[in-house]
Amino acid sequence: MTRNGFRAEEIDTSRPHPARIYDYLLGGKDNYEVDREAGDRLVDVAPEARIGVQANRAFLQRAVRHVVGAGVRQILDIGTGLPTSPNVHEVAQEVAPDVRIAYVDNDPIVNTHANTLLTRSAATSVVLADLREPRAILDHPDVHRVIDFDQPVALLLVAILHFLSEADHPGQIVATLRDALPAGSYLVLSHATGDFADRTDTEEVYKNATATMNLRDRAEVERFFDGFELLEPGVAQAPFWRPDATPPRGSAEIGFYAGVGRKAR
Ligand SMILES: C[S@@+](CC[C@H](N)C(=O)[O-])C[C@H]1O[C@@H](n2cnc3c(N)ncnc32)[C@H](O)[C@@H]1O
Repeated sequence: MTRNGFRAEEIDTSRPHPARIYDYLLGGKDNYEVDREAGDRLVDVAPEARIGVQANRAFLQRAVRHVVGAGVRQILDIGTGLPTSPNVHEVAQEVAPDVRIAYVDNDPIVNTHANTLLTRSAATSVVLADLREPRAILDHPDVHRVIDFDQPVALLLVAILHFLSEADHPGQIVATLRDALPAGSYLVLSHATGDFADRTDTEEVYKNATATMNLRDRAEVERFFDGFELLEPGVAQAPFWRPDATPPRGSAEIGFYAGVGRKAR
């Protein structure tokens, strides 16, 4: 049993999992044959997939440095993924050691790894919960242990919303989370898109996975920022959101939108 009551046998190794496919594409070791096969098929249909996930991860780091540099001291990271160095708390605490972080993911294997690696500090909590039930996240005692919803929060929804279909009402979910945050909070978001190359075949790769892939266009991604003021340069391809180095060759093909918004009131 893990701390959250999941048994090891509930870790499904017969179907590809988004977190483990992503880990494989990033060059990690926490994945199984089914995940590697799905990752290879992704690269077949979207050759930029590997530089895409790296660009997404680099965006995440730049955005976290930005929001912490702007004064935020609490991070709610929904869709944590498997631990990947540097992890969000490492990036954030390098800027300000007093940052507190709640990591939330619905994948038991992510939860197990995160519990082992990440909960060595009172400033960090690891929660097994589903983005499709935002109230359960907002009300979770382990979220409240580290997040004070009367103070600004950086909400991270990085490379997760594309795993929600329209039937999940992702817009309403983001609005529920937004409404729980005080003024001065931030939304850090990235999302897969087919706007830069036809990538409908990637949706096929996820058909047998534990979550579907739902590509969205620029207007759909921008709508997730309703109620937030988008920081410059707005919603951009991940490598072009405030780059701190020359974006890698092939960046113009990368199918990840990225942006950061601030809740003014
Ligand atoms: C592609 S990884 C992204 C990891 C990290 N945010 C990043 O961008 O580097 C997506 C993560 O979202 C998680 N996830 C997918 N659907 C979810 C849901 N409905 N609720 C909570 N987590 C979910 C997966 O388990 C996976 O760990």
